[in-house]
Amino acid sequence: MKKITLNIDDKEIIVEEGMTILQVARGAGIDIPTLCYHEKLEPYGVCRLCLVEIGTPPKTRLVVSCVYPAADGLVVKTKSERVIQTRKMLSVQAILLAIKFPIILSFNFWLNLANERSIMPQ
Ligand code: FES
Repeated sequence: MKKITLNIDDKEIIVEEGMTILQVARGAGIDIPTLCYHEKLEPYGVCRLCLVEIGTPPKTRLVVSCVYPAADGLVVKTKSERVIQTRKMLSVQAILLAIKFPIILSFNFWLNLANERSIMPQ
């Protein structure tokens, strides 16, 4: 299988083609938070918590690392300001959504994302 080289957080990584950015990062010991991803299941890419920034300034964009394929020459930032701010916004959205849907609230509580009593409607 063909080898590719990508750069994640200024670290050059050589892997076989066919992996996602998340798989490559984890293999290199780089942590990317996930919620809906599980290695034994088909990636779904719905929570977007695993997003990362790809490209070089000024041409960068956010992609979902659990489904985005690793490619030769790809430059990835997992902890840029844009990534951190967007992850925070997604977390807040998840908590607000949980107020409407108690099952999600329970899930967030289980993950320690929210204090169930403080955000439950009275
Ligand atoms: S972990 Fe949920 S979209 Fe990637």
